[in-house]
Amino acid sequence: TVQACLFDLDGVIVDTAKYHYLAWRQLANQLGFDLTLEQNELLKGISRMESLEIVLGIGGVKLSEEEKLKFAAEKNAQYLEFCKQITPDDALPGVRDFLDELKADSIKTGLGSASKNAKTILTNLDMLNYFDTIVDGNRATKGKPDPQVFLMGAEDLSVAPEHCIVFEDAVAGIQAAKAGGMIGVGIGQASVLTEADYVMPGFDGVTVKDLFEKLK
Ligand code: BG6
Ligand code: MG
Repeated sequence: TVQACLFDLDGVIVDTAKYHYLAWRQLANQLGFDLTLEQNELLKGISRMESLEIVLGIGGVKLSEEEKLKFAAEKNAQYLEFCKQITPDDALPGVRDFLDELKADSIKTGLGSASKNAKTILTNLDMLNYFDTIVDGNRATKGKPDPQVFLMGAEDLSVAPEHCIVFEDAVAGIQAAKAGGMIGVGIGQASVLTEADYVMPGFDGVTVKDLFEKLK
């Protein structure tokens, strides 16, 4: 039986993946190369500094530690600039209804995100109080695919991993869920999220009851 649902933020609750991409692409362009959407998949769910390493690797660019910190800060400033336009209307279709239904069914909810900006974004969405616990990039020390963010969330909620569903749009996030012994529901394409237990394009029209039925 499912006792808790843990949600990734970027790309699951809100489409900030596009803003992360734009900000990284801007940085890449500044350094003299381009970043494709396909390459951007590699950055989903990955911490800011690890993402920077991947981006620099793609461009074959070497930087000092000091420069890395400077560029990471610039990327984040640009990203936050994009995020200022996020309003409660930007929650992805069906997400709010799904969370309401979980509440009504007394199923616990948690956020498990690699982002250090998670609370800012939830505040812009007016969704901070939708979650019984929040584990973000300021709390977790290990990035996905390590299961730490989700295990911390399950522990906060006093629910055993096997009774948790994780909702994730990132390959690394599904890997984290599975490594933690949880059920991994992919948000996106089955051809990308091959390790997920079940994949759906989003929450639009999805009821908790129907989904749990499908996962049986
Ligand atoms: C994840 C995103 O949620 O957060 C990644 O999928 C991002 O793309 C990571 O790099 C870290 O985010 P932030 O906001 O701390 O730079
Ligand atoms: Mg994500």
